[in-house]
Amino acid sequence: MSKTRTAAAERMSRIPPYLFAEIDRKVQAKRAAGVDVISLGVGDPDLPTPPRIVSALQEAAADPANHRYPSYFGLRELRLAIAEWYSTRFGVRLDPDSEVLPTLGSKDGISHVPFAFVNPGDVVLAPSPGYPVYQTGALMADGEAHLMPLTPDNHWLPDLDAIPADALGRARLMWLNYPNNPTAAVAELEFFERAVDFCREHDIVLCHDAPYSEIAFDGYRPPSLLQARGAREVGLEFHSISKTFNMTGWRLGWICGNAELIKIAGQLKTNIDSGIFQAVQWAAIEALRGGEAETEAANELYARRLRKVVDTLNGLGWRLEPPRATFYVWAPVPEGHDSIGFASLILDQAGVNITPGVGFGPHGEGWFRLSVTAPDERLDEAMERLRRLKL
Ligand SMILES: Cc1ncc(COP(=O)(O)O)c(C=O)c1O
Repeated sequence: MSKTRTAAAERMSRIPPYLFAEIDRKVQAKRAAGVDVISLGVGDPDLPTPPRIVSALQEAAADPANHRYPSYFGLRELRLAIAEWYSTRFGVRLDPDSEVLPTLGSKDGISHVPFAFVNPGDVVLAPSPGYPVYQTGALMADGEAHLMPLTPDNHWLPDLDAIPADALGRARLMWLNYPNNPTAAVAELEFFERAVDFCREHDIVLCHDAPYSEIAFDGYRPPSLLQARGAREVGLEFHSISKTFNMTGWRLGWICGNAELIKIAGQLKTNIDSGIFQAVQWAAIEALRGGEAETEAANELYARRLRKVVDTLNGLGWRLEPPRATFYVWAPVPEGHDSIGFASLILDQAGVNITPGVGFGPHGEGWFRLSVTAPDERLDEAMERLRRLKL
């Protein structure tokens, strides 16, 4: 490269380093220095993928029919299995041919849809705190992100009426995510209906990211956006097998909803990737058709772990309620700390890795997130280390 020019495109200066890649680097450095770090930083289930799903992969991987380029739009059997799962779970009927588009995990869909719907200078409405890819996806497509603050006062739901007229006039896409990462908040159908009405009125594509729809406790069943009146006119929902079936490494999710929007997203995708390894698709079909017993067992485990963390923190002076969904605890940092400072202190003094809230956007400042996706004995040890710190 010439001395006056950097290798990176100008766009890259607007895209921050990926939060979890940075955290991972820090944890690896500690481990290399001999520290026994307990990571409660990333939402990656510690439970293995159920054996019946692994067996389906093994069988499919041995079949040469699955070794060639897969269909761009996913196996029809997969789209059918997704539509059946949706109908059983949400009572929503999807046309597997026009209303379902498999993706390489939901991050693939989330990061790429702005290319399909956002022109340079258009606005993407994204929650803050929120999954960072909503914002970076917008920036990669040369759009602008307008952050919708989530606060305890509004029960971590965006105040749609507070979006300024300038941002609203240029808004093309809105992200919602319930059950929510990082706050663990949930939304009811009535809120989705308000959001649908709002997006129809302002001609905005409403994208609901729902990878935690199955991680919920005490009989609570999170609704789908597509159950909301009118949602199919403006709505897309993003799902994933990652968290539901302990399959984060397998990379399979899907987008479903409005057929015209799905067609546009599909046209984009055919130009980006060449489909999902077919053996993984057969494994996903097995996952989706296998009933709910494994998810229920995992949810009982997460609920027990979440109660343990909430009880530990409450014993140290916090006042937290156990979350109704997700495997996250979202808690305020003690007075006198900011979120990065507090996370560093916990890592340095207790060898426990938690996520600073500001990593999810400016409105996450003053908070931290802890994931209970660590084995019981490691979580117990982490809680013991926090108790010894006497925060
Ligand atoms: C809110 C949210 N959306 C999407 C994803 C990405 O999941 P996937 O593994 O399906 O790409 C995550 C993963 O942590 C997430 O928390």
